[in-house]
Amino acid sequence: MNKNWWRKSAENIPNIVIRPPGPKSLKMHKNTTRYFRGLSSQVKLFPVSFEEGHGISLTDVDGNRYLDFSSGIYVTSLGHCHPKISEAVSKWANKLMNCHDFTTPVKEKLVEKLAGILPGNLNGIQFYSDGASAVEAGIRAARAITGKQEFISCFRDFHGKSMGAVSLAQMLRGDVFSYGPTRAPGFYMVPRPNPYRPTFAKADGSIDTDGYIDFYKEFIQEATVGNVSAFILEPAQGWGGSIFPPDDFFPKLRKLCDENNILLFSDEVLAGMGRTGEWLCLDNWNTIPDIVTFGKSFGNGFPVTAMVVKEEYADALDLISASSSYGGNPMACAAALASIEVIEEEDLLENVRTVGKWFLKRMKKMQEEHPIIGDIKGKGFLLGIELVKDKQTKEPFNEAGKLVYQKAFTKGLAWIPAGHILRMSPPLIMDEKFAAMGMDIIEESITEVEKEFGY
Ligand SMILES: Cc1ncc(COP(=O)(O)O)c(C=O)c1O
Repeated sequence: MNKNWWRKSAENIPNIVIRPPGPKSLKMHKNTTRYFRGLSSQVKLFPVSFEEGHGISLTDVDGNRYLDFSSGIYVTSLGHCHPKISEAVSKWANKLMNCHDFTTPVKEKLVEKLAGILPGNLNGIQFYSDGASAVEAGIRAARAITGKQEFISCFRDFHGKSMGAVSLAQMLRGDVFSYGPTRAPGFYMVPRPNPYRPTFAKADGSIDTDGYIDFYKEFIQEATVGNVSAFILEPAQGWGGSIFPPDDFFPKLRKLCDENNILLFSDEVLAGMGRTGEWLCLDNWNTIPDIVTFGKSFGNGFPVTAMVVKEEYADALDLISASSSYGGNPMACAAALASIEVIEEEDLLENVRTVGKWFLKRMKKMQEEHPIIGDIKGKGFLLGIELVKDKQTKEPFNEAGKLVYQKAFTKGLAWIPAGHILRMSPPLIMDEKFAAMGMDIIEESITEVEKEFGY
């Protein structure tokens, strides 16, 4: 497969022919939302209707063409409609769509491939069809492996919307109705390191990783019944705003888990499969989890997710059964297998590392030049820009976040809002030319918003 397959469709993007959201988009949105309710803020703030995607470009129903900095929502990471992946799915769509959890040739190849790319001996595998189901399977697996019941997770992490996953996360999210009234018994939450806004800081104000670890030790002793099965967290926060911990955090957390006989469960649904330039985001810190979940990029848009445990724990998976209606169906396995092969064949981990460094340099320069950019964050193609009203007080600038999102979208950049933190998740195939194009649009929008607010 020619790795430039997407370039032709990227010519002349962005191309805005009518101010978006245009009349056709708005009419379609109105007709749809007459019945389909509960849309995300990504859509509510910019109700455009799409009809085509190819590579790094998206086309709306009014004929506007956008540069994609969202990959759906961290999903179509190898570009929309990658020919190799579409072909693999359509082959099985015409051959065998579902046969429960029986083995198929494509499942055989996928498990061998997946076990081959993962570090250590992460090779006890189950497949599901959404991220939350994989996380639920991880919770069940942790209990089956350890015989223990309690879980510790982190403030502002997100793990999905099933009840177990909801118990691991914030119960009241912005304008979303509280999932409460309480989380399930035995589920606890603790703060996690955010270098820009540390809960535990040294005398000079810099983040104190040991402060977190010491707090966790005390928390385990004082707040739990000594029955903690797993510490589950996102390796880098996605929904929380592309927030990465300091480099010494995960090695220290791994040690804490080992000392306390607690499993380390890395939910890599968003950050895994190449997004940070490594197969696992935890590879950035040479840390191997006991349980890991994959989703989103795993099938490049086809609903397929995975939960994987270390070999020594794999027997426990027999206790929780891999049976599900759709998990691991042949089309899903074909999508995931082709996606991994594409990352290898197109050398995308290297591309993400190289262009990722370029992104950080550009964002750093923007931070220096713009009064409302308080912080920049990222590794590879998991990126964020934090907007503040004042660099000293660090007061979040939500109004600016919303406006910058809308302005950039109007100029032809499809992307993801997260309150005052602008999130970028470009397809991993993107090169510097298009990365610069997207960042120019963002910077132009930030400049306009600064002017509007009198900076
Ligand atoms: C880290 C993480 N885990 C789990 C999920 C849930 O995935 P899904 O929406 O496929 O259920 C998400 C979704 O955003 C996520 O970001």
